[in-house]
This record gives sequence, structure tokens and C-alpha cells, in this order.
Amino acid sequence: MAVHPAYLPAGQQCGKSAGMMIVFANSKGGVGKSTLAVHLAVWLFDMGHSVALLDADRQRSSSVWLHEAEPAIATRAAWTPEDCVTAVRQLQQDHAFVIGDGQASLDDLGRTLLLMADLAVLPVTPSILDVRSVQQATGVLRYAQELNRGGPEGRLLLNRMRRRDVISREVTAAMPGLGLQLCAAQIRDLQAFRDAAQQGTVVTRMGRRGENAAADVKRAFAELLSDSQHPSSN
Ligand SMILES: Nc1ncnc2c1ncn2[C@@H]1O[C@H](COP(=O)(O)OP(=O)(O)O)[C@@H](O)[C@H]1O
Ligand SMILES: [Mg+2]
Repeated sequence: MAVHPAYLPAGQQCGKSAGMMIVFANSKGGVGKSTLAVHLAVWLFDMGHSVALLDADRQRSSSVWLHEAEPAIATRAAWTPEDCVTAVRQLQQDHAFVIGDGQASLDDLGRTLLLMADLAVLPVTPSILDVRSVQQATGVLRYAQELNRGGPEGRLLLNRMRRRDVISREVTAAMPGLGLQLCAAQIRDLQAFRDAAQQGTVVTRMGRRGENAAADVKRAFAELLSDSQHPSSN
């Protein structure tokens, strides 16, 4: 992704480096925001990057899960837009990556999270309701881009896909019409993701039991970060 200098956070425009903020957002629950946020955080950590998680969901599922999976990763919770701004800026000073996990609504807090993101990832699962929720989220993303006169960049990421499932195929076919870049990598619906959540770990640390799921997330995350111009992603 070729990031125009105007897309970069204020810190980088004046030469200082601030951590890259990657937010998982969607106005729908159950699409895998928390699952993917936790997995991305641990994947980056295991590659030696400094990473923190900002949990902006009152259910706190991702921060509790991440604390179990890898207590060395800093987590913060934010439940108001004001907390969110303060927490993101502080975490960005000390970490190369800040992963934001939003709640299933694009209210003031969800919008603030998007406004502060360098990259917004919208997970989509095979349900026609998902296409509607992504249309809504895309509208909020455009609003954030307009206010920022640039970023965040947006990416759609298909999650919980089933190869022989008609809805999976229909949702894939609907993606180009949503006006956002779609990741080529897709994440399959695999039991290992549910087991990982139950066991307080991540599929990339589950050995053979998690190998298919691990291959999917690694491919997707590598694609999300591969062509980013953000200093933290290189
Ligand atoms: N690729 C996947 N395969 C199987 N189950 C998944 C996958 N991604 C997420 N899940 C499961 O779907 C449910 C919702 O995921 P979650 O990450 O909590 O969504 P959100 O944060 O968007 O509400 C959880 O039970 C989770 O284990
Ligand atoms: Mg969640």
C-alpha cells in the first residue's frame, strides 16, 4: 500500500516516529475483530516487534485473552473518546505497533479509534448482514478520511470462510462493490480459532493443532503489512 505522506500520523510528518496504529473495526459483532487483534499482536511480538493493544470494547475480551496468551504485551482499555486519544498517543510513543480492537458499534468511541488509525481492517464473515455492516463502516471510514484529509487506509478481510458455502461465495462476489481494497488472503472457519480463545493462546503457538489456522493468519497479516510505507511495518 503506497501511503501518501499526508496519510502519516502527525509525528511522522515532522520526522518523529510514532507507532503504527492498526484498528479492527466493523459495526457488527462476531466477525473476528478481537480474535484477529489478539493474533496480530502476538504475531508481531513473536517476530520481535514492540506492540501494545488498545481494547475499546467494554467486554474486554481481547485484553483479557491477550494477557493470558502473552502477558509481556502491554494492554490498555479505553471506554471514552478522550481516554482513547490519550491512550493511543501514549502507546504510540513507546511501541512500534498499536493494535486497536473496537466494539460492535461505530459510536463516538469507535469513530475516534478509526480517526486515529493508520490502517483500518474490516473483518467480514459470510453473512448478508455483514455486507450491510461493512457498508456502514465504509461510510464511517470515509468520514474519518475526510476529516483527516487522508488516512486511515481501509482493508476488507474475509474471515470464517467456508469453501463450499454459497454465502461465502456471494459475500466474496459483493466485496468489489464496497469500494475498499480486499485482502487476497482469506481466513477459513477453523475450530483452532475457538480452541485458542478457550485455552488463552493463539493458533500460531499451537503447533500442529493450529497449523492451518496459523498459515491463514500469517498470510493475511503479511499481506496487510507488506506494502505499507509506515516505518514501523518495515
Ligand atoms: N476464523 C475463525 N474460525 C472459527 N471461529 C472464529 C474465527 N474467527 C473468529 N471466530 C470465533 O467467532 C466468535 C466471534 O469472534 P470475535 O473475535 O469475538 O468477534 P468480534 O470481536 O468481532 O465480536 C468467537 O467465538 C471466535 O472464536
Ligand atoms: Mg470483540
